[in-house]
Amino acid sequence: MTGQTRRFVKKLDLPAYEIEPANPFFEIKEPFVLAVPTYDQEIMDVVYDFLDHNDNALLLKGIVGSGNRNFAELFVYAAKQLAQHYQVPLLHVIEFSGTPQDVDTIQKVVNKLES
Ligand SMILES: Cc1cc2nc3c(=O)[nH]c(=O)nc-3n(C[C@H](O)[C@H](O)[C@H](O)COP(=O)(O)O)c2cc1C
Repeated sequence: MTGQTRRFVKKLDLPAYEIEPANPFFEIKEPFVLAVPTYDQEIMDVVYDFLDHNDNALLLKGIVGSGNRNFAELFVYAAKQLAQHYQVPLLHVIEFSGTPQDVDTIQKVVNKLES
């Protein structure tokens, strides 16, 4: 909603698809990692709609949560719930649009998944 997750994903320089809230029913054809911000459930519903579409959830390899530590125990709770619901690892958490270290970590994780 504020472009932080999008900015982070752009920095990864990896092939990426952004869920369209107006039509989340897009079929992914290859294994992928999901990067998600943290908002109330009704805003996150489109992410569940996307993952429940066709075989998308089966191709989900892990989740990167974007949030703000000022939310204390609610920090990246949406990503934690998704990881639990779809039984995939929460690979990493970031704040704002991520640090260079975050970019490096996720690039390594994704490259490892590909090999
Ligand atoms: C209304 C609102 C509620 C939020 N609630 C949470 C929250 O519960 N936990 C959290 O970690 N971050 C929360 N955040 C922070 C965002 O998830 C965080 O800034 C994220 O990086 C935004 O990503 P985006 O720019 O891609 O939307 C909230 C932000 C807003 C504006």
